[in-house]
Parts: sequence; C-alpha cells; structure tokens
Amino acid sequence: MRGNRSRPGPRDHECVPSGTRFGVYVHIPFCASRCDYCDFATWTDRDHLIDEYVAACVTDITRRRSEALPAATSVFFGGGTPSLIAGPQLAQILDAIERTDDAEVTVECNPDSVDAAKLGVYRSAGVNRLSFGVQSMVPHVLRSLGRTHDPANVRRSVELARDAGFERLSVDLIYGTPGESPADWQRSLDGALELGVDHVSAYALTVEPATALGRQVAAGAPAPDDDVQADAYARADDTLAAAGLEWYEVSNWARPGEKCRHNELYWTGGDYLAVGCAAHGHTAPRRWWNVRTPERYIAAIEGGTSAVGGDEVLDPETRAEEAFALGLRTRGGARFDPRAAAAVADLAEQQVLDRSGDRIVLTRRGRLLASDVTARLLLAGAAPELEPGPAAPLFSGTRYH
Ligand SMILES: C[S@@+](CC[C@H](N)C(=O)[O-])C[C@H]1O[C@@H](n2cnc3c(N)ncnc32)[C@H](O)[C@@H]1O
Ligand code: SF4
Repeated sequence: MRGNRSRPGPRDHECVPSGTRFGVYVHIPFCASRCDYCDFATWTDRDHLIDEYVAACVTDITRRRSEALPAATSVFFGGGTPSLIAGPQLAQILDAIERTDDAEVTVECNPDSVDAAKLGVYRSAGVNRLSFGVQSMVPHVLRSLGRTHDPANVRRSVELARDAGFERLSVDLIYGTPGESPADWQRSLDGALELGVDHVSAYALTVEPATALGRQVAAGAPAPDDDVQADAYARADDTLAAAGLEWYEVSNWARPGEKCRHNELYWTGGDYLAVGCAAHGHTAPRRWWNVRTPERYIAAIEGGTSAVGGDEVLDPETRAEEAFALGLRTRGGARFDPRAAAAVADLAEQQVLDRSGDRIVLTRRGRLLASDVTARLLLAGAAPELEPGPAAPLFSGTRYH
C-alpha cells in the first residue's frame, strides 16, 4: 500500500473483495480569481483558512478510516483549484488516504498555479495524473471567459509537468463562448493536441445565473448559440478522433488505456468517499454531501461532529434510471428494457442511437441531444431493473452523523 506513512491503526480492507473499485474525491474550495462562467463551490477570499482546511481534511479521512474503508483505487483532487494550496499540504492529505498500489491519483491544476517544485512534490507523493484547466488556446477567448492565463502559460506548465515525470495529462476545454469563431475553436483543439495530452474533456459553455456571465447575459449580452455549440462538438469529435483520442463519454475523449478511472467510477455507479466542503459521496444505495462552506466544514470536523450536510437513499427504480442515464452517456451504452422497444426503434430511425441486441449507444447526433433522448427513453420505461447488489455497503457513509 502507498500513502500510509502517517496512517493510524490497522485497516481491515482485506475483507473487501479483490478488484473492488473505490474512489476518494477531495474538494479544494480555493481559487486565485473567479472565472466569469463558474458557479462551483469555491472562494477567492478565504486563503487564510487553507491551513485549517487541510488539517480538517486529514482529520476527516483519519476518522473515516476507523470504519471499514476500502483502499482507494482512485483519488481525485478537484475544486476550486487544488494546485493553489502548497504541494506539501496536498501531499499531507494524500498521505492520509490508503490506496492500492496501482491507484490513479489525479490533481486538477490551473496553469497559473503550478511550478516545478510543486509538481515534484506531487510526483513523490504519488500523484500520477494531472488535469489542466486550459479552456481555450486563444487569448481573446480566454479573456472573454475571465481566465488569467495565456497559451504560453499552458505550454510552460505542461512542459514542467513532463519534466517532473508526469505521463498522464488531461486538459479541460470549453467551446461555444460568444465571440469564439470555428477557426478559434480549431486552434484550441490543435493547440491541446500539440501539447501531447492523452485525454481531453470538452464542455459546452453553460450560462449559470449566479455568475458574472449569467448577469451579463441577463443584461442583454449574447448567450452561447446552440447551433454553434453543436458544430463545435462535431469539430471536436472529428479532430480528437483523427488524433487517436476516441470519445468514451459525451464530454470526454482519450487515447486507448487513458480513460479517467475515477470518472468511470462515477458513471458506473461505483462507491466513493467525499472529503472537504461541498463534496458528494456515494455508497449504494445512499449518497450524501458535505456542508457547503469551508468554515462550516472546518467547524464540524474540529468540533468532532459529522461534516455531512444531507443524504438520501435512492429507491431501486431511481437507481436503475440513474444507471441507465449514466451508461447511455458512455461509449459502452446501456442495456434497455424490452418495454421501450418501440421508442428505441423510433430513435434508431431518427439516427440518434444505434442498437445491438438489448444494448443501445448514442450516435454523435444523439450525444448532442443526450438529455432529451434519455428523458424520452426513461418515459418509455427503458431502464431495466438492476441486478441485486452486495448485501451490505462497503462502508457506512453516515457513521459520523
Ligand atoms: C474545477 S474546474 C478545473 C480546474 C481549475 N479550477 C481550472 O479551472 O483551471 C473544472 C472544469 O469545469 C469546467 N466548467 C466550469 N464551469 C463551466 C461552465 N459554466 N460551462 C462549461 N464548463 C465549465 C471548466 O472546463 C473547468 O476546467
Ligand atoms: S473554473 Fe476553475 S479556476 Fe475558474 S473559478 Fe471555477 S474552479 Fe476556479
């Protein structure tokens, strides 16, 4: 096992069946500045809380480990901007998490907040995958999004990552920003590929009401255009596939063997622990979420109580529908119930899905309409009943309630 230098007490994950996947998501809710489109749980004026927050994450994990917590097969530091905190602080949190030898450990990085020393610390701590928030490789688009980096920064940070020994790199891109031309988007795709990354997540810009972009659009500024975004999606799919990165989820492309295992865990209904404020965890059939602000998270953990802010137990029907909807967003597709045969035939006729036996997979056209197609199929009863799951959860998500 790795990551247990400071681990207290023995662990009993031996009782977990071999091959069991288990993830840990750690939320780091701090950013240097707020991007115009972003409504994530993150703060730009709370850096004075970072030390206490890191200590609270470590305490939270340590307490969780007094439950029958399995060794993690994947760890994901998301944000906010995980790369904003000091390298040794991130290593301290990671150290507290018991992991399998081959665990995937990803850190979301902002190109503005990495340097050689920090990346070196990540590497020795066991981080083996980095996901850079690039968004665009075109300066005027980056400015419209309220980003602080430029394309040269991106190239520099990726080079530093390679020098530090990172082989698994991903970039996040956003398409459909008003003012972004097809040529601009192509430049971003080509620029990302020139970085030599093996994984790309590309998201259509969405307008969230409680953001600077939301307020601008409410005041009459242009909103992203659906048709432009559909064309941009097709361009991404063509460009990335031609470079050897195949789609494996509606918004994700990877070279063979380079899919994000942690995200696959989410999409296949796996179990994962939530660490940090606003983080969501899942232990079938229960999911839960931690209190939203860093202050409340720190207070709960320091006070020896649970940081869980709420939870819900999903009934079998809802679980089946969620599994169906998530599966349908992936290249593997979903199995459908024969009740929905007529709807499936109709949607196949409209070329939004391909059918093979009792499985369906979205076509590119279908991926663009994924939410509508899923809603129609669910209404037709397409979600088959789930196979009976394990009798008991791997660990209790609510022990510290
Ligand atoms: C937590 S951030 C990534 C790491 C880091 N905070 C950064 O931005 O560099 C997660 C990703 O969500 C995407 N995202 C956030 N808000 C979005 C929105 N309104 N529309 C489209 N994509 C969005 C961005 O691509 C962003 O990189
Ligand atoms: S997109 Fe990333 S860097 Fe920008 S505000 Fe959101 S979490 Fe922070």
